[in-house]
Amino acid sequence: MCGIVGYVGPDNGGKALDVVMEGLSRLEYRGYDSAGVAVLAGDHVETRKRAGKLANLTAALGDSPLPASGTGIGHTRWATHGGPTDQNAHPHRGGTDGKLVLIHNGIIENFHALRAELLEDGVVFESETDTEVAAHLVARAYATTHDLTEAMRQVVQVLEGAFTLLAVHADQPGVVVGARRNSPLVVGLGEGENFLGSDVAAFIGSTREALELEQDQIVTITPERVSVVGFDGRPAAGKPYHVDWDAAAAEKGGFDTFMEKEIHDQPHAVADTLLGRTDEDGHLVMDELRISEDDLRAVDKVVIVACGTASYAGMVAKYAIERWTRIPCEVELAHEFRYRDPVVDGNTLVVSISQSGETMDTLMAVKHAHDLGARTLSICNTHGATIPRESDAVLYTHAGPEIAVASTKAFLAQITACYILGLYLAQLRGGVFADQAPAVMKELQQVPDKIQTVIDSMDRVREIARFMADTRAVLFLGRHVGFPVAMEGALKLKELAYIHAEGFAAGELKHGPIALIEPGQPVFVIVPTPDSEHGLHGKVVSNIQEIRARGARTLVIAEEGDEAVVPFADEVIRVPATPPLLAPLLTTVPLQVFALELATAKGLDVDQPRNLAKSVTVE
Ligand code: G6P
Repeated sequence: MCGIVGYVGPDNGGKALDVVMEGLSRLEYRGYDSAGVAVLAGDHVETRKRAGKLANLTAALGDSPLPASGTGIGHTRWATHGGPTDQNAHPHRGGTDGKLVLIHNGIIENFHALRAELLEDGVVFESETDTEVAAHLVARAYATTHDLTEAMRQVVQVLEGAFTLLAVHADQPGVVVGARRNSPLVVGLGEGENFLGSDVAAFIGSTREALELEQDQIVTITPERVSVVGFDGRPAAGKPYHVDWDAAAAEKGGFDTFMEKEIHDQPHAVADTLLGRTDEDGHLVMDELRISEDDLRAVDKVVIVACGTASYAGMVAKYAIERWTRIPCEVELAHEFRYRDPVVDGNTLVVSISQSGETMDTLMAVKHAHDLGARTLSICNTHGATIPRESDAVLYTHAGPEIAVASTKAFLAQITACYILGLYLAQLRGGVFADQAPAVMKELQQVPDKIQTVIDSMDRVREIARFMADTRAVLFLGRHVGFPVAMEGALKLKELAYIHAEGFAAGELKHGPIALIEPGQPVFVIVPTPDSEHGLHGKVVSNIQEIRARGARTLVIAEEGDEAVVPFADEVIRVPATPPLLAPLLTTVPLQVFALELATAKGLDVDQPRNLAKSVTVE
């Protein structure tokens, strides 16, 4: 959500505009509804901004080109305060001399009060945004300090909420100043040029050397220098790191859409997340965890907090963690956890799951858990993101950059990381499953090839999806770990194809949802392996019969060789056999492919569905 790019390089033949526009296009995946750029042009700053996609901004730049410059900033905005209009698009000007512009990601919560004060002082606002308040405040502070870094430092003291701010001033060419509190900002280190971005995708075409910033820091970049100070003015140093992703990884790799590419990336996403987690005997090793083994042994409750797809990974994790560790495990939507009175203490392990590591609802839940004394562990796909930084420990998933807004490979990687965590806790605490951890890890190692098998056999699923392009509602049923898969299947269809879709626990069918079944109603059923305990398989087969008897069109996902489902299935979609708890890594894939193909058949933009953002950095 909101993409930010900053660039300083040589003034001669300055390429600021090109770099900033390229960065913005790489950040498109974050979700946005307007975009703008600014470059330094002699004694003033020039801006262009447009509602809508980057193409509109490019057209505006064609009609009215910007001068070559060595200093520029750019922004893709996802509207919060004020609609997605040209006026509300960033950058915003501060003061009246046209010398200062500023861009912002996040929400300035006390902007009403600040705006009222500025209005009283006679400031005229051009937009409805909270951002413009910050622009005027920085311009005013600059008038007395004549130093952009110090002006920014003074202003952040009075701002409440979450923000990344970037500013340039015409009197300080070759300088971009950034500030961050609870919102993302990374530095890209070049030769004679430097970059700022919401994430490394912004500058990955130019450099892979990056600098991680702490919270509450201000960074000043010039072509030759990067300097960091705390909001308190004390000098600080960022943490340099090398970005492993190459530029191609952030691109489509020959597929039509990022989503298709990312579905195909899944065998790697799972394999890479499993890499390096076991010793020669197959026992788990967790070098990166920063919570002591004793503290983990003392954990008597696990609470998983997450949003969207990540919360369904958490639901899968609950089945595995309780089964393997016998530690009670709750799963809660992060935004619900934060605003009630959760029962957690020093022996509670609060596990957050987030692809981006920037989801504000999840971040706030983690901070709340921390304030209540809980141990916090982040499962995250983005190196150096805010949530892992704010957590006691981190377990990174290695899915690589996920660009499509709707999550696919990150989901499988999150589930994989949850299994690793569950097995590690089981191993640490002894108990029945401790000895079985190596065997489960062995099974997990075989999963990437099985995912590939599923991906390679999706032709029929694509046909079914195309055939169903006019469908108005689809239901999804699953039991046990198939239940969160059903929820995820429904979410994918809502997100991508804008079709009403619901996932239910199959056992709940008779308690209400069966009333929805009418002749021709398509229902996906995720069938557990015939080896499942407690006669689970038979129960789901009965559920299929119940809906079939009422006219439903049954689309059944079942294990190879499971013949019991055949008489009641209009379509059988096969997945390779795997232990019951690990099945979501396979059964999810056909549902992703189905949603992708159906949305494509409807002519929709699958990578950037309407109204959605990849990284939801506001509460
Ligand atoms: C947004 C995205 C979803 C994602 C959710 C959580 O809503 O559209 O695809 O599942 O955020 O994102 P996270 O980065 O925390 O996993």
